[in-house]
Amino acid sequence: MRIDILTLFPEMFESTLGCSILKRAQEKAIVDIILTNIRDFATDSYRKVDDKPYGGGPGMVMMPGPVFDCAEHVRKLSSEKGRVILLTPQGQKFTQEKAGQLSKEKRLIFITGKYEGFDERIRIGLGAEQISIGDYVLNGGELAVMVIIDTIVRLLPDALGDEDSPKDDSFSEGLLEYPQYTRPEVFRGMKVPEILLSGDHKKIAQWRHQQAIERTKKFRPDLLKE
Ligand code: 6GU
Repeated sequence: MRIDILTLFPEMFESTLGCSILKRAQEKAIVDIILTNIRDFATDSYRKVDDKPYGGGPGMVMMPGPVFDCAEHVRKLSSEKGRVILLTPQGQKFTQEKAGQLSKEKRLIFITGKYEGFDERIRIGLGAEQISIGDYVLNGGELAVMVIIDTIVRLLPDALGDEDSPKDDSFSEGLLEYPQYTRPEVFRGMKVPEILLSGDHKKIAQWRHQQAIERTKKFRPDLLKE
């Protein structure tokens, strides 16, 4: 998979992309992640990329010119056309299901801006879809892209070690994950449930499924309604 990120703050991504699973997935060539600075496509001497909204109102809006030029440049870097995604609180909410769909694409192009948003002609002209990571407002889409990439890359074949698997993750079957325990068997008077020490894999699987249902009922009843 190839992932392009168009941003005003490429330096924000360094630590996220340079650690752990995301780092390893790039080293193993499971994913190529390429950052491009939108400001490099500004055309005036101040390197201006945003401006006051027509009609008045607070804040600044991303200008179409630099974002368009940047997107057109990036698109040409690979023959794969790619899905263009704008990060905005007005987008469709990102879910595990959406992550599963996006993880099957060959190329994704993410465009981040400031929270006041993009000139509407960017969305229309680039045929972009919009994604939000939740009902709250971030200062920009950078953290949202990091959340989305982190979620997608762990679903790519071979991104996780053999010992890990996204199959049992919370939400993968519409339920929260079952409770986990490791050593020691007793910690500050709290015991590991007996069944997990029994070696009976069928019973353990049943217990875990039951626990997943109960925990979802208790902590996230909204998931069961869906
Ligand atoms: Cl994608 N962008 C911004 N600026 N705020 C958000 C968001 C995205 N998702 C939730 N809040």
